[in-house]
Amino acid sequence: MTNRTLTQSLHKNQFPAHFKWGVSVAAYQIEGAHNSDGKGQSIWDVFANQKGNIHLNQHGNIACDFYNQYQQDIQLLKQLNIPNFRFSIAWSRILPNGIGDVNEAGIAYYNQLIDYCIAQKIEPWLTLYHWDLPYALEKKGGWTNREVISWFSQFVSLCATRFGNRVKHWMVMNEPVVFTGAGYFLGIHAPGRRGMDNFLPAIHHTTLAIAEGGRILKKILPPDAQVGTTFSCSYIQPYRNLPRDQKAANRVDALLNRLFIEPLLGLGYPDKELPILKNIKKYMQPGDEHKMVFDFDFIGIQNYTREVVKNAWFTPYINASLIAAPKRKVATTAMRWEIYPEAIYKMIEKFSAYTNIKKLYITENGAAFADEIKNGEINDIERIKYFETHIAQVLKATQDGLKIDGYFVWTLTDNFEWAEGYHPRFGLIHVDFDTQKRTIKNSGKWFTDFLS
Ligand code: GAL
Repeated sequence: MTNRTLTQSLHKNQFPAHFKWGVSVAAYQIEGAHNSDGKGQSIWDVFANQKGNIHLNQHGNIACDFYNQYQQDIQLLKQLNIPNFRFSIAWSRILPNGIGDVNEAGIAYYNQLIDYCIAQKIEPWLTLYHWDLPYALEKKGGWTNREVISWFSQFVSLCATRFGNRVKHWMVMNEPVVFTGAGYFLGIHAPGRRGMDNFLPAIHHTTLAIAEGGRILKKILPPDAQVGTTFSCSYIQPYRNLPRDQKAANRVDALLNRLFIEPLLGLGYPDKELPILKNIKKYMQPGDEHKMVFDFDFIGIQNYTREVVKNAWFTPYINASLIAAPKRKVATTAMRWEIYPEAIYKMIEKFSAYTNIKKLYITENGAAFADEIKNGEINDIERIKYFETHIAQVLKATQDGLKIDGYFVWTLTDNFEWAEGYHPRFGLIHVDFDTQKRTIKNSGKWFTDFLS
């Protein structure tokens, strides 16, 4: 027994036969080729190349060079035995100005990628929007401009028309609360906007765009297409057993977990717990209550950790603050996120309780650690343990009859981790960013054993 197998007990055969196993990536984090073959700029191209925005001023101009090296990476995926590959389309690669002229070279690239996956017996799962809005549209207000719904509709229609005959699983968006919160409220992600006057319209237009995107996909795609969208979620617990901390936890739960799924399910924005959301009314037009609703075939949830919350009168709008994991002296990943496997079970349980959700997949779960290559090997024991303990919780969820039908690892190769740059390594495969050399980590080998 190698020390990469901490326990031999976990195996995919313990899961239902139809359970989907996969790995997730996102265009800006891996593709590079930021200005190749007619691609237009995205907000991330611009934001990451402005000094001071990203750790060590790093950017995704080259990233993992996946655009040029995708065949090699898909071969590695095949070697790992992972049958489903979730990736995103860079909007400005196929529509350089966001709308209007189509860049056929960009379409050809995604066609080749899809065809190559299928030829290798790997099923492509498409995310349409993983945060990289075309910069030309940001100049017109981006997600704060209601016209974004019609711009986004053009992009969705184009993807459905060009890729719809071969892709069965579709996700309209990735983690709306992260790109609106970090990009339009905190200003720490692209496009770097701040404040409620940006955040609230961005929330509402995003909600409408997700629902509209779902309707467009259903209209254009063949009847057996599965149309979904994905949400981040964290298990939220009060710091102390005090009513005020419990209420603070409820507010954070409304913001981080309920903000987008509930309007889509017809339950409206969770403004009872979070009154600031009542101000979204300012951006609503007659009929929006209905336009916000869409019945997705599946929902993807993405969980990494839990958050512990206390009441904080001086924190504007939310009156709550998070007690950071290092302060609580608990085990953390390189992102300083607590390692708390029960969180994934709790989130499956929470989303399973929404009766209108038909199907649930974990579309991301994973961990960054400071991996070291020693004698050509990366013995990332902590990541293996992370997967074992989290997948064990997913197994328990299936045994308890909760609604869960798949699990996707974040992520295939080490890549550009947004504001954190290249420092956090999340991959099953190590990348040397100077040489682009790939090395399968022991966690990758563990996964292969698990799936064999
Ligand atoms: C998610 C995101 C991914 C990836 C991951 C790890 O929020 O969808 O793009 O960065 O977190 O932080």
